[in-house]
Amino acid sequence: SDPVAEELVRRSKPEPGTFIGSGKADELAELATALDVDVVVFDNELTPAQQGNLKKIFRCDVVDRIAVILDIFAQHAHTKEGMLQVELAQYRYQLPRLRGKGTELSRLGGGIGTRGPGETRLETDRRRILERIGKIERQLKHLERGRDTRRKARRKAELPVIAIVGYTNAGKSTLFNQLTDAEVLVRDQLFATLSSTVRKLELPAGHEALLSDTVGFVRRLPHELVEAFRSTLEEVAHSDLLIHVVDGADADPDRQIASVRSVLGEIDASDVPELLVINKTDIAPPAAARRLVQLNPGSVAVSANTGDGMSELGAALVEALERTTSEIALRVPYERGDLVAAIHRNGDVLKQTHEDDATLLHVRMPTTAVHEFEEFRVD
Ligand code: GTP
Repeated sequence: SDPVAEELVRRSKPEPGTFIGSGKADELAELATALDVDVVVFDNELTPAQQGNLKKIFRCDVVDRIAVILDIFAQHAHTKEGMLQVELAQYRYQLPRLRGKGTELSRLGGGIGTRGPGETRLETDRRRILERIGKIERQLKHLERGRDTRRKARRKAELPVIAIVGYTNAGKSTLFNQLTDAEVLVRDQLFATLSSTVRKLELPAGHEALLSDTVGFVRRLPHELVEAFRSTLEEVAHSDLLIHVVDGADADPDRQIASVRSVLGEIDASDVPELLVINKTDIAPPAAARRLVQLNPGSVAVSANTGDGMSELGAALVEALERTTSEIALRVPYERGDLVAAIHRNGDVLKQTHEDDATLLHVRMPTTAVHEFEEFRVD
């Protein structure tokens, strides 16, 4: 449905009761009645109380930014885990917003024992939602364990994992397809990719990696949503390299880059090495693309649409991957035998020999993991 009116309200700070102030709210209520609107959407986060008050004043539905993002996420979730994460976030969002019918007694008791004597409708709804939340949390726990196992299996396969991140609509899915020839759903809309997809990537000179396409980041991603999608986003923190795609044709690409990096910080992925890819060179003003490349040493400019710059990107990826792992020699005393297992988990053991009192290992491991074994290094 199309918006019938738009209103920008400036305030130095939100008004606790109505966010926009009661005078403004009354004014908008008149407009809402005159235009016969069904829903008023705020591009802000509203407290449950503000939302409730505004509903009463406007006499129609009121939706805030979180609800809109959740709704879009819900339409694009395509894995079991993604769908459960969205549903959980929706219930958590609804819970403090249940109101109004506090004194009305429930008529919907779903059978014996489902509601205590005199339990109100509100209480019944709350209890049902809490039960459902508990159930989803258990299912998600279970799925997360599976994800851990898969992640370990991938590690074992000794292929480095590259995650594509970037602001929503930057061209992540298009680049993913261009790199892997895979047929992943690509659409010109936000969050076409909610859950991660993993494909094998063939690079120059026989190098291989696993490439995963993740969620599109948005500006001001509400903190509670970062929490809700933490396990999906954690895939990013566990990868060996990030391809950070930025839309070179955007009016303010620096802001996109900063938003993405701030989300990366929130999910503890700041340490993962990043290769910045300036995309859409076919439509970006050449000067703008040049400026971005100059400002970000090591970045590569491409067009995921036309395939321009893909061979440079391939070479840059190989180079970046080589820098993400280090070959080191370790000498581990037998009494620290537990470490040998940890080393095998963390890296690719190229050679292992035994001395009288220690194991000698030559290992290739993620550069970020090297510090854990520093005291045993002999190279
Ligand atoms: P989300 O999943 O929403 O985060 O989006 P995304 O980053 O995966 O972007 P996607 O690949 O879906 O591309 C978004 C839009 O940009 C699509 O309409 C693409 O066709 C377009 N696009 C992607 N790369 C290029 C490019 O190099 N040039 C041009 N002109 N358009 C591109």
